[in-house]
Amino acid sequence: MGITNNDYKSTTSSESDDYDINTLMIHADDALNNRVVNDVAPPINVSTTFRYSKNPDDWIPWKDQTEEEQNKLLNEDFIYSRLSHPNNIRLETNLNNVFKGYTTVYNSGLSAFNGVITYINPKQVFFQDCYHGVKSITRIWERNHGVKVYTNLDDVFEHLKEGDLVHLESPINPYGTVIDVAKYIKFAHSKKAYVVWDATFAPPPTVDPWKYDTDFIMHSLTKYFGGHSDLLAGALITRDSKIDHVLKNDRIYLGTNIGNLEAYLLLRSLRTYEMRFKQQSVNVTNVVNWLTENKHKYESLGLKITHAILQTDSFVKDQLSGDLTTPVFSLYLKDFETCKKFVTNLKFFQHATSLGGVESLVEIRCLTDPHISMNLIRFSIGCEASKDLINDIQQSLEKML
Ligand SMILES: Cc1ncc(COP(=O)(O)O)c(C=O)c1O
Repeated sequence: MGITNNDYKSTTSSESDDYDINTLMIHADDALNNRVVNDVAPPINVSTTFRYSKNPDDWIPWKDQTEEEQNKLLNEDFIYSRLSHPNNIRLETNLNNVFKGYTTVYNSGLSAFNGVITYINPKQVFFQDCYHGVKSITRIWERNHGVKVYTNLDDVFEHLKEGDLVHLESPINPYGTVIDVAKYIKFAHSKKAYVVWDATFAPPPTVDPWKYDTDFIMHSLTKYFGGHSDLLAGALITRDSKIDHVLKNDRIYLGTNIGNLEAYLLLRSLRTYEMRFKQQSVNVTNVVNWLTENKHKYESLGLKITHAILQTDSFVKDQLSGDLTTPVFSLYLKDFETCKKFVTNLKFFQHATSLGGVESLVEIRCLTDPHISMNLIRFSIGCEASKDLINDIQQSLEKML
């Protein structure tokens, strides 16, 4: 499916199906190249406010404007950067083609979830293993609006009602394992509930959430799209232009549009996304395979690994059907103290939260996630040489024997 009949973005291409993702990420916003200065790298427009037309005949009160006139102001002429600015429009134009859907970009992944829960306005929310920040947002809704929160996805089969929100995360943070999304999505739609799929851990083309007919795709763009640990951003993608319109309008008043500089940085990062992600995917496969083959040597440390390539269920192959996989996995060691020693011994892996950057990270996950075991270390594999990463892990484990 290409983006045709796009009534919100006039610049998306109906030919996007013909091009691979790396070409799209480098060129899908070319139509917005500045016609005054021939710069190849897109400019950073830092202004928060934009001059109105010099012609007083163009000054039409907002309430009297047609939708077309308002869209022109938001997408081409601009008013105020909380509404829209050239960098976020350029970014969304690119991502519309990449995702084959209508993209709304936010100033963080959690702002994207705030956007979708505000749009759906559910009476009940269902999730299970997912990013702890998403769980905390649903608790705010529980506190403020009496929303009923279910923390076991199988509860949908007994309690799901029309208009509820089913939040799926696959692959799951921090395990890097995938869940059988198809059965939940099918059931949710039979009840006229909405499905949001947070696919942050498997950005395109690793999984194709549209294949399973999700209603919304959510991403923390902070991770693989940003790729350099230097920006926060999020996205919601829908195939319904009317919903897209509401999300963008709500975003104005939630105050969650991406900043000008972050939008520029993200666009810059998209140009190298495919190379980075391929390398991270190959690296994680090598590291997880090495750990699996050698774990018997470290039995005394209680080593256990979780990652999608170790799962044997048939839905895993269906979901991760290509060569790519999530660059995140988790390692359990005997106890908290053993985890501390392991992390202290590492040379290349930075001990920090987050994931998706070119530099490999580890995190003793309970330092930020209140719901996780004390002896779990999350790995985010970067773009270094996998042999150097493996050597680093090996020397740290050996020191503890
Ligand atoms: C799976 C997942 N979803 C959402 C988020 C939230 O994203 P952000 O930090 O950009 O708000 C994160 C952050 O780690 C995440 O891992």
